[in-house]
Formats: sequence, C-alpha cells, structure tokens
Amino acid sequence: MSEGILLPKLARGTLLPPLERVARLREALPQILAAVTGETDEIALEATVACLLWESLPQTNWCGFYRRVAATELAVGPYHGGMGCLRISFERGVCGACARTATLQLVPDVRAFPGHIACDDATRSEMVLPVCNRVGRLLAVLDLDCALLDGFCREEAELLQPLLNTIFGDCMPSPELGK
Ligand code: SME
Repeated sequence: MSEGILLPKLARGTLLPPLERVARLREALPQILAAVTGETDEIALEATVACLLWESLPQTNWCGFYRRVAATELAVGPYHGGMGCLRISFERGVCGACARTATLQLVPDVRAFPGHIACDDATRSEMVLPVCNRVGRLLAVLDLDCALLDGFCREEAELLQPLLNTIFGDCMPSPELGK
C-alpha cells in the first residue's frame, strides 16, 4: 500500500526559497506519478494529487481542485485546507480566469487581482492551473493558495503543468475551451 510521499516533513506555512521549493517539487513529481499510475477515475486522481501536492508544497494553505460542472461553472472538488467556496462561476476570481482561458494564473498578491474571491482572508498569493481531459476540454482547475505574498513561482508551474497533462490530458489554450 502507498505510504504517501517521501520528503522531509516541513511545518504547514513554510515558504522555502524558490530554488529549494523547485527542488522539493522535482523530487515529489515521480512519486506522485507512480502513486496514480493505472488509475483512471477522475475523483480518485484528483484526491490523490491534492493529497500529495499538499505534502509537497508546504507553503499552501489550500490545495485542490475546482471541477467544471456546467458550461461556465466550477464546483469544489477534492482538496486540503480550510473550507473553500462551493461554486465559482467562470466570470469570477482567479479560478474563473484560469477556467475561461485554460491558462496558468500566477498571482503574487491577490489584493492586486481584480475580482479575487476571498474564501479565506488569510490567502495572499495563489497559482491556478488548468486541467484538461484527453481531448483538450477543460475538466477542472488546480487551485493552490498561500498565506504569504509571492508563494509560487513560474518554475513550479512549469513542473506542475506537465504533471497534470500526463495524468489528465493536455490543455491547448484557446478561447473555444471556455465554451
Ligand atoms: N482562489 C480562488 C477562490 C477559491 S478559494 O480561495 C479556495 C479565486 O479567487 O479564484
């Protein structure tokens, strides 16, 4: 049976310097991939990825998925952290912007992002990545939130997006995806 992820245990909220964060994530990726290999159920995959990324990214105060449940609506999926909003329209917030455009949203300061949804007042920065199925249709977004400014960097996104693409499918950014 799986024993989770083999990484040094760090206190929740620890924001390592970017190079160390990237190195830690690099170490986690093959373990995450190994843990989900052979699984095809979407919820089982999202739950396991949320669990293992929560361990891999100790700076997160919320780590999980919002699933596309209608043409322009997301509903909360598997996550770790404090209670999140249940529904998010494509029109709203960082998750909505990611879902609309199927592109990475890297927000170093949420207060500078017009329309940010403050599910948790503690959140100061976030990163949201698109998740698509095998035919490139938006399935969900991966929402990562941090209680500190500048909690995420592009290099982390560049490691996470291929992981999501391998597990779920490739996003081909196009305005059509949001339709
Ligand atoms: N980060 C989101 C809201 C979702 S919760 O904070 C978990 C946004 O503004 O899109």
